[in-house]
Amino acid sequence: MEVIIQSTPAAAAELLVRLIAHDLRANPQLVLGLATGRTMERVYDRLAQMHRECGLSFAGARTFNLDEYVGLPATDPHSYHRYMQEHLFRHVNVDLRNTHLPQGDASDLAAECHRYENLIRKCGGIDLQLLGIGQTGHIGFNEPLSALHSRTRVKALSPVTIAQNSSLFADPSKMPRRAITMGVGTILEARRVLLLATGAGKAEIVAKAVEGPITSMISASALQMHAHCTVIVDEAAAAKLQGQDYYRWIFANEPEWEPYRSAS
Ligand code: F6R
Repeated sequence: MEVIIQSTPAAAAELLVRLIAHDLRANPQLVLGLATGRTMERVYDRLAQMHRECGLSFAGARTFNLDEYVGLPATDPHSYHRYMQEHLFRHVNVDLRNTHLPQGDASDLAAECHRYENLIRKCGGIDLQLLGIGQTGHIGFNEPLSALHSRTRVKALSPVTIAQNSSLFADPSKMPRRAITMGVGTILEARRVLLLATGAGKAEIVAKAVEGPITSMISASALQMHAHCTVIVDEAAAAKLQGQDYYRWIFANEPEWEPYRSAS
């Protein structure tokens, strides 16, 4: 795992965008794993801008989102289907037939989870997985005690996550209590993982996930086992990391990061 500390949330998002753009240009058929949430909004705004102004093409890309709320149809304004339409898909040239999210309103949820896993496999697996991190340390909606080998399945949302996200619902009491989420094991199979966390509110959970023990109580800690995972944080989210000086030294000195230093 590598940790890159950037000065501001905008600089952190910018670095993530540059890494995505690099991989997409190198492999136009990239299989991209997508996250939703407030942190990603800035990333999708910038990707849309790069599409408009610099010709970044999504024409050959295939996308798989991490999760969707159980019970919400794709047309629901609070669904992650709608989030992706609003924040990314309608602003870029992705072929909508190549964009995939779990169907939260499927009549047979177990079959839907199985279908989703198979579809990822059929596309050759995820090349680049984007992640945020929740207050519980979840990635996707892998709440505490998610098995480190878990696959796509229905997960009950924790009270902390319900508190984190219910304000995004017009009527907070209508926020679904369950979601379909890729499992921790599914996420760990992505060839590369990029996690973005910004703001002081994430500092404690980022430190636990990155520097604490690997535990199913904090799903993001499983990323310590991934061979190619980069955690990008702003100063505020980095504040509780013990190894800040070391992480900064690596970013400032290792040749692989040379093309990306100007974003900081
Ligand atoms: C969303 C997702 C979640 C979020 C996390 C952070 O698809 O999988 O894990 O990434 O809850 O959300 P924000 O960015 O709103 O703090």
